[in-house]
Amino acid sequence: MPWTACVLTLFPEMFPGMLGHSLVGRGLEEGRWTLDTIQIRDFAQDKHNTVDDTPCGGGAGMVMRPDVVTGGLDEAAKRYPLAKKVFLTPRGRPLTQEKVHELAEAPGVILLCGRYEGIDQRVLDEHDDIEEISIGDYVLSGGESAATVLLDACVRLLPGVIGKEASHEDESFEAGLLEYPHYTRPRVWRGREVPEVLLSGHHEKILSWRKTQAQRITQERRPDLWERYCKEIKGSA
Ligand code: ADE
Repeated sequence: MPWTACVLTLFPEMFPGMLGHSLVGRGLEEGRWTLDTIQIRDFAQDKHNTVDDTPCGGGAGMVMRPDVVTGGLDEAAKRYPLAKKVFLTPRGRPLTQEKVHELAEAPGVILLCGRYEGIDQRVLDEHDDIEEISIGDYVLSGGESAATVLLDACVRLLPGVIGKEASHEDESFEAGLLEYPHYTRPRVWRGREVPEVLLSGHHEKILSWRKTQAQRITQERRPDLWERYCKEIKGSA
């Protein structure tokens, strides 16, 4: 069984979008993962196909109705009973590489994309198996681009999608560090040289240089990751 993604959205035409291209798109064509969309509007209860209403208590914007959203969620769960349910929202827990691994190792995901101000809280209270996830501390106009980011991150980890030659071990976040810098030919470009050690053929020295660079970059750019890394190193010593 391939890994399954099911996106609940008011804009199913946004998919596969970027996910239909490059390695992730090839993975889709090759059947390494599947992508299904559910139009939330199909579960509207009135003749105008209304999906949203004004917020109780007043305020700006509109809120997606619980009866409509739940109709879509129930259909998705019927199609993909083992998939993990995720609601994409800036109020969610931050998406991390660890969470990406967890979702990629599950049978699949059901991704609920909100529009407007969000969805009625009772949907989330009713379905306590929905995890709220944010892709960063900024507000997007809807969950679809966040769902695309999450799917890209998961799918590239699936067996055969990136190809045999690639290893994920050295990538940013995998060892708790940002990745070291890369170089290719020419050896000198605009007066800038490829670091000598990378041309030395000395495997151990190269590994050591890369580790030092990864540590330096992480320390400079991500004090939060650096602190955690140092604690883990101490803990395992
Ligand atoms: N929807 C709107 N903004 C979002 C964000 N930052 N992460 C996930 N979903 C969102």
